[in-house]
Amino acid sequence: MSDARRIGVLTSGGDAPGMNPCIRAVVRAGIARGLTVFGIKEGFEGLRRGDVRELRARDVGNIVQHGGTMLHTARCAEMHEPAGRRQLVRRVSEADLDALVVIGGDGSLRGAHALAELGVRVVGVPASIDNDIWGTNMAIGVDTALNTIMDAVDKLRDTASSHQRAFLVETMGRSSGYLALMAGLVCGADVILVPEVDTTLEEVEATIEAAYSRGKSHALIVIAEGAKLGSHEVAGFLADRDVGFESRLTILGHVQRGGRPGAFDRMLASRLGYAAVEALAAGENDVMVALQGREIATIPLEEVARHQREANLDYYEIAQTLAR
Ligand code: F6P
Repeated sequence: MSDARRIGVLTSGGDAPGMNPCIRAVVRAGIARGLTVFGIKEGFEGLRRGDVRELRARDVGNIVQHGGTMLHTARCAEMHEPAGRRQLVRRVSEADLDALVVIGGDGSLRGAHALAELGVRVVGVPASIDNDIWGTNMAIGVDTALNTIMDAVDKLRDTASSHQRAFLVETMGRSSGYLALMAGLVCGADVILVPEVDTTLEEVEATIEAAYSRGKSHALIVIAEGAKLGSHEVAGFLADRDVGFESRLTILGHVQRGGRPGAFDRMLASRLGYAAVEALAAGENDVMVALQGREIATIPLEEVARHQREANLDYYEIAQTLAR
């Protein structure tokens, strides 16, 4: 057993369904290892304010099924400044914490690495619906968000088909096309617009027109929020063209971040939270726990901070072939 006896856990950045089961796992795995676990409210911002309190097993009861994060989350501007980071290091020492478990997306994990470089013991846990975190096949929240998108698009298809319309659906994902790509595949989109692939408005027009000519009852265009062609731009362009279908735009927005975590995310969150405690107990530091294949592994946070996970464009080809 390493010398980490008092550990803090926080959630940071955009929330993701599955953060709660992950907090639960860290708290209970920590207690099982004889550690005292402290919850830090509102991510690094709460740490800066010293908002730290002990969490016992019962404090994390009845949260496994809830979306969001019981610890709340925030984006902490001070984290980007050296002085702000030094202040956080001091707060860790004032709270007498031996180590931190940081649950969050790529920005939060970069922050965790920056603290590690200043001497704080840290283990990161990847959680972001964007699935843009290097080194893990899946981040916590991705699967639930994808299911949320799929449910929404299935509903839109009903009305699209009834009215013989083309629906444009914008997904989140920041600068990654992962969510849009996978949503496009599982929802049978005719066109998928992602930051990783250049597409022209004329190509979109031709594809939708061809779908109409082949006798499709509706068409679906999934657009990543980071795509070079913006959803309003595509909608405006199609409104002025005769592609057979009338079109409508739906921006799914933050609904994608909410909701009960599905079974996959609860499982992933439980395994990663448990593994984070195991990693600390094994004396690891400045690492992220990650899903690699079917196994949980650890990977240096420095590596995570230097890269962004790329969406696999093989899926783009598959989706295009299947949208006949
Ligand atoms: O990183 C998760 C995410 O939901 C992105 O997909 C999106 O671009 C961003 O957060 C939205 O951030 P906010 O909730 O601060 O508007």
